[in-house]
Amino acid sequence: NSSQTPYETLGGEQVLSQLVDTFYTKVSQHSDLAPLFPDDLTETARKQKQFLTQFLGGPTLYTDEHGHPMLRARHMPFVITPIQAEAWLFCMKEAMDEIELTGPIRDYMIERLTMTANHMVNQPS
Ligand code: HEM
Repeated sequence: NSSQTPYETLGGEQVLSQLVDTFYTKVSQHSDLAPLFPDDLTETARKQKQFLTQFLGGPTLYTDEHGHPMLRARHMPFVITPIQAEAWLFCMKEAMDEIELTGPIRDYMIERLTMTANHMVNQPS
């Protein structure tokens, strides 16, 4: 249905929640990413679910609780080179594989997440 948001096409809260939880399991096991993140990823995952919900056209959960995302500014405390951006996207693709997310919605998400990940790079490699 052409009037669906990407969030709805994805499968809403349930599928997004599975994707994000699977993604952070990968992140916690990736040597280029794990050192940047807290040991307990519960709160990180909660915020990412809120963010991706609104990123995909669902309810504005992130902004309602935290204000404007200002994602690049919020990532400035962390050294992010192209290595970390690639690793982030690799973990996301692995998570999509694991939950068997395929088709145009996957391609659309990868395209937009690639742009966002590249935008977070704040140091040369
Ligand atoms: C928070 C790393 C890309 C969305 C964080 C945190 C780290 C991080 C270390 C803090 C975690 C915490 O303290 O709980 C990275 C790295 C990236 C990347 C290395 C590689 C390019 C992205 C992308 C998105 C994103 C592409 C969105 C699609 C977020 C959000 C938060 C966050 C929403 C929570 C911000 C808050 O504290 O409110 N990220 N990130 N990140 N990241 Fe990323």
